[in-house]
Amino acid sequence: MEFNELDEINKSYGLLDEQNYPKWVREELKNYWQSKHVLITGGSRGLGLFLTKNLLDLGAKVAIVARDPIRLQLVKEQLNSENLLTLNFDIGNKETIHTVASMALSFFEGRVDYLINNASTLGGKELRPLLDTPCEDIEHALNVNVVAPFRLTKLVVPAMLGKGTVVNITSDASVTAYETWGAYSISKAALDHMTRIMAKEFSKFNIEALAFDPGDMRTTLHFNAIPDAEISDLLHPGDVALELIVFLAMEKHDQERYAASCWKKVVKDAVFGTGQVVA
Ligand SMILES: NC(=O)c1ccc[n+]([C@@H]2O[C@H](COP(=O)([O-])OP(=O)(O)OC[C@H]3O[C@@H](n4cnc5c(N)ncnc54)[C@H](OP(=O)(O)O)[C@@H]3O)[C@@H](O)[C@H]2O)c1
Repeated sequence: MEFNELDEINKSYGLLDEQNYPKWVREELKNYWQSKHVLITGGSRGLGLFLTKNLLDLGAKVAIVARDPIRLQLVKEQLNSENLLTLNFDIGNKETIHTVASMALSFFEGRVDYLINNASTLGGKELRPLLDTPCEDIEHALNVNVVAPFRLTKLVVPAMLGKGTVVNITSDASVTAYETWGAYSISKAALDHMTRIMAKEFSKFNIEALAFDPGDMRTTLHFNAIPDAEISDLLHPGDVALELIVFLAMEKHDQERYAASCWKKVVKDAVFGTGQVVA
């Protein structure tokens, strides 16, 4: 793929600066995210990598999980921050998910503010009609995209100590029936509904659960799904990460699932209108 996120970061694309956000917003974001503890699955590429880089720049402490050790090492070297912990695990492996949680909790000295369930799989190597989809691809998609976020949420929410947010990254495929996207779509629909139930059940503990559709982005996942997509039609994952960082810092979240057009409009109105951004 032509798009390399680490090169983009080197060139400062997709990062918070005076070009994309006014000074008052950058200052409010720094005040908000300073010293927040954020666990992100899949922080080595795409959306997760830009969330990680921007949150580190804003003073947060971030732990990321991904499978490819070489990529993780590159990310660790390039981001070069003592506030970053890289964890080389497969979130779909139930044998090691406790280790992921306990290493992150130890790095965060027992307190987590945000869990961002971002890592995802399409299910199999290629998209196929449901009847041609191996059952194992459905199982794999459900395991990585639903069961793993569930396991991690169970392990991490107690460390939110009465205030925190579980963020589940979903997709428009959870609500629109795209042919050949069956395994992925089914898992994202389940993730959405799990989020709704979490939101209800966790509210009494002052913990939010929110699902976000990020929109179509130029990332490895998108390239694997649609190799011939026109790159200029796709969002830059850094721009999406910044919008999410603003949106999460805002006080009012009145839905459990946000379609891409909806939460991005709220961010644009707050930043470029007269509204206050940070709670
Ligand atoms: N890109 C889009 O157009 C689009 C549209 C709608 C929704 N989304 C959603 O946005 C989120 C981010 O996607 P993206 O496009 O940024 O993906 P991406 O560029 O492919 O990055 C995925 C990240 O997750 C990690 N990962 C994948 N499987 C993992 C596993 N089993 N255990 C641990 N880490 C794992 C990857 O690292 P390793 O491979 O090294 O593990 C990588 O860091 C996903 O939830 C996706 O469904 C994306």
